[in-house]
Amino acid sequence: MAISFCKEKKVFKLDTEQTSYIFCVSDNDFIEHLYYGKRINDVDVKSISNRQIYSFGAKEQESSRDFSIGTVLHELSVASCGDLRIPSVIIDFNGESVSNRFRYRAHKVYKGRKAINGLPYSRDNGSCETLQVELENDANTVRILLYYTVYERENVICRYVELVNKTLPCIYLEKAASVCIDFYGCDYDLITLEGMYLCERSKIQRTPLRKGFQGNASIVGASSHHTNPFFALCSKNADENLGETYGFNIVYSGNFKNEIEVDRLCDTRVVCGINDVGFRWKLRRGERFETPEVVMTFSDEGVGGMSRNMHDHIRNNIIERRYAFCKRPIVINSWEATYFDVTENKLLSLAKSAKECGVDTVVLDDGWFRKNDKSGLGDFFVDKEKFPSGLKKLSEDIHSLGLNFGIWLEPEMAAIESEFYKNHERNILSTESKPLVYRNQFLIDLTLDENVEKIKNRISAELADVKIEYIKWDCNRYLNEASSKNSPQGEVFHRQMLGVYKLLDGIKKNFPDAMIETCSGGGGRFDPGMLYYSPQIWASDNTDPFARIYIEYGTSLAYPKSTVSCHFSEGVCTSGRRSSYDFRYIVASFGPFGYELDLSKYPKEDLEKFKEYSLKYRENEKIMLEGDLYRLISPESDEFCSYIEVSKDKTRALFSFIEINTTGHTESTVVRLKGLAADKLYKNESTGQILTGAALMNVGIRVGDLFKEKGGSGRQILFSAQSDNIENKKEY
Ligand code: GLA
Repeated sequence: MAISFCKEKKVFKLDTEQTSYIFCVSDNDFIEHLYYGKRINDVDVKSISNRQIYSFGAKEQESSRDFSIGTVLHELSVASCGDLRIPSVIIDFNGESVSNRFRYRAHKVYKGRKAINGLPYSRDNGSCETLQVELENDANTVRILLYYTVYERENVICRYVELVNKTLPCIYLEKAASVCIDFYGCDYDLITLEGMYLCERSKIQRTPLRKGFQGNASIVGASSHHTNPFFALCSKNADENLGETYGFNIVYSGNFKNEIEVDRLCDTRVVCGINDVGFRWKLRRGERFETPEVVMTFSDEGVGGMSRNMHDHIRNNIIERRYAFCKRPIVINSWEATYFDVTENKLLSLAKSAKECGVDTVVLDDGWFRKNDKSGLGDFFVDKEKFPSGLKKLSEDIHSLGLNFGIWLEPEMAAIESEFYKNHERNILSTESKPLVYRNQFLIDLTLDENVEKIKNRISAELADVKIEYIKWDCNRYLNEASSKNSPQGEVFHRQMLGVYKLLDGIKKNFPDAMIETCSGGGGRFDPGMLYYSPQIWASDNTDPFARIYIEYGTSLAYPKSTVSCHFSEGVCTSGRRSSYDFRYIVASFGPFGYELDLSKYPKEDLEKFKEYSLKYRENEKIMLEGDLYRLISPESDEFCSYIEVSKDKTRALFSFIEINTTGHTESTVVRLKGLAADKLYKNESTGQILTGAALMNVGIRVGDLFKEKGGSGRQILFSAQSDNIENKKEY
């Protein structure tokens, strides 16, 4: 049983394999948080509760004992209930009596979990368990349900909240966060993933908590390029391998807010969920609002341990089963090869060269329904001048080469010269009569179901008879003006996101054989919400390997490598920097692999080299999809970057070492591997040398022996466990 309730003490205990999460019903029926961290056996840890009354900490008049709402740790904090810290819920009672003290009424524990209406969430894996705690305010007008789903193996607890207007004509939710959790003390560092377009999640920002407010947020209608809904809190001494680390992420792709407050007593509050900026949700009598889900994990194996928990959870419970561990397409994507100048002939010649490189899917990127970025979006009619034989025929031709066919879509947008924009101006999100324009496009108002249907039907009609195995789903602008002619102002951000999810669902239903890869001007929507629909995301438009190393490494803090789509390209489009093929391959084989360059221009020997890369990627793909990632050297060293993935059964490991800058001491650098079985014998498949896991992890390997080239180079070595038993060998 992952979830237990001690009736006598009124204590809830949620256990995963290595963590415990404990809270209780206090004497006056508030829900009081007690502990989250390494697994413990004790149930009654109520003694930890801080029951002192400090200055200005109010208590209830009839409370038999000292119990200050302002001081104890909470699981939910409704504004103006006596708590002195940031609230997780704010309700406007719309002129009716305000009643903000929510008390425990009942709870239920059940196998599995409920779906969250219209939102992505961690899937029912057959063994998860859910605790539902029901609270009600003293006026009995509003009910709040707290949901906790426990994934034991992944050491994850997922939380979300449901708010129900029971009896009042109308209330407004002004804030509805998914998580409120308090920690005693503030000896933590906060880690967030920062960046911007072309360097998404490349800056791992680690700062000590300080008194007051800190955190990260997005108000652009997407999880954004500049930050990410993921964050971690870790003890000051935590490194990649040791130290307490909590990880949080939101299964949502729109505005989010992670707030961390260190209060006057130097305790730490964490509130996360939908951003309350621009949010005001109307609930009529009987209506309910479900928040997005937050994924929480804890590891005492440092930031690396936390990442591995997150990776397992995303792969096992968020990504669709049919894709999670399956071989991914090796694509040739037309964008950096042709940009808008893509034509039938160009794509076919790209496909023919791609065939020689071991590619299996040809992706027709932007340009199939337009000549430039001013038109086409919203209408989605194939450009007959560029594709005179039509897409059906093109797909057939590509299939006859033994390749699959993929297509680029940007369904959420209408272009400035599109018919959609001209005829449906009312169905564009904007605050003024002339909407702000970005990349010559506008956001279609998907808060209106009719528009979701219209776009879905238009795209489905245009591609009805085209055999498609892959869709690249893009989104190239933010929701800069959250105003709709069809929805109340405070609901636009969230309703638009619900519309996007509905459209994703609809397109998936109409193209059941197509795997979707999402994208947002590169990696502007890299989040667990999108991963529910697409097993991999285009990480960035920056394919320069020198820059990409940082993007990949930062992204890996929260997301498994199998979600980080990477392409081998010229590598120069964003920076002009040149780099060797091997270097580009190593960086691009970090995650699902593909090519993004005009292969038809390359000589035969280069195509043969590329074919070797495709084969090598396939050989190692299984470890990438299923293995445990151990980060060894951060690129923030500005010298090297190194990591190793180890298969779950510890029989195979792929070690990567990348030299970013030539330094005097590359040759003498020794890297100690991680994650191997100490008592297994491993063969270095490049040199044939056999060493124990213990030697590889403690003595390490000298990287000088691996390199020929200098600066911007890299090596990968496969280690395979030998069937020989270590006892049979005398010395190693
Ligand atoms: C975005 C994507 C690119 C490409 C272009 C097409 O920027 O990130 O990969 O698809 O759009 O317009």
